[in-house]
Amino acid sequence: MIIAIDGPAASGKGTIGKRLAAHYDLRHLDTGLLYRAVAKAVLDSGAKPDDTQAAIAAAKALDPSRFDEAALKSAAVGEAASYVSAIPEVRAALVGFQREFAARAPGAVLDGRDIGTVICPDADVKIFVTAAPEVRAKRRAAEYRAAGKDGDEATVLADIRKRDERDSSRSASPLKQADDAVLLDTTNLDVEGSVAAAVRIVESCLRH
Ligand code: DC
Repeated sequence: MIIAIDGPAASGKGTIGKRLAAHYDLRHLDTGLLYRAVAKAVLDSGAKPDDTQAAIAAAKALDPSRFDEAALKSAAVGEAASYVSAIPEVRAALVGFQREFAARAPGAVLDGRDIGTVICPDADVKIFVTAAPEVRAKRRAAEYRAAGKDGDEATVLADIRKRDERDSSRSASPLKQADDAVLLDTTNLDVEGSVAAAVRIVESCLRH
């Protein structure tokens, strides 16, 4: 079984993806980490996030088995990731890895922006997770504070709005709900409520 989860930053898709994978005994891939790793490699090399050639070279050299997830989760890397992920050649370099991950038995949960539309258009279940920007900013700011980082909510909200705009308006695989995806709005749901709603969506998809 392949479950595709897409949605904007801090909508809850990562948490839902992890929990669904555990619930159904599937592997899980947070595809945002791939773009974050490309962005971090570009930044570490001293290049700017919009340096197309540096980003393409980093994407082609990517080794997902050596990711340092904590380092990739910083706000600066997330911001840079939304630039490198708009480059078509960067996206093209990462397609094969994602599709191979999805195809391996017993199946997988992938979360990102274009899983249901581009990476796994034939996924058994597609969920588009969203939440009000203010609620997403509150969650992300709390995450940063829990990790000992600066978590000013107004700054995070401004950041989220900018990234939403960039992720949705780019021409290469923009953030967009697939026609056959089920919408899950987590604005008024906590983690347990969101996971329960996602399980209900999967069960209903499997029945039909
Ligand atoms: O989900 P995230 O915050 O880790 O994603 C980081 C950036 O990567 C985000 O700005 C959009 C981009 N991304 C993408 O374009 N396609 C994906 N499948 C996943 C993430």
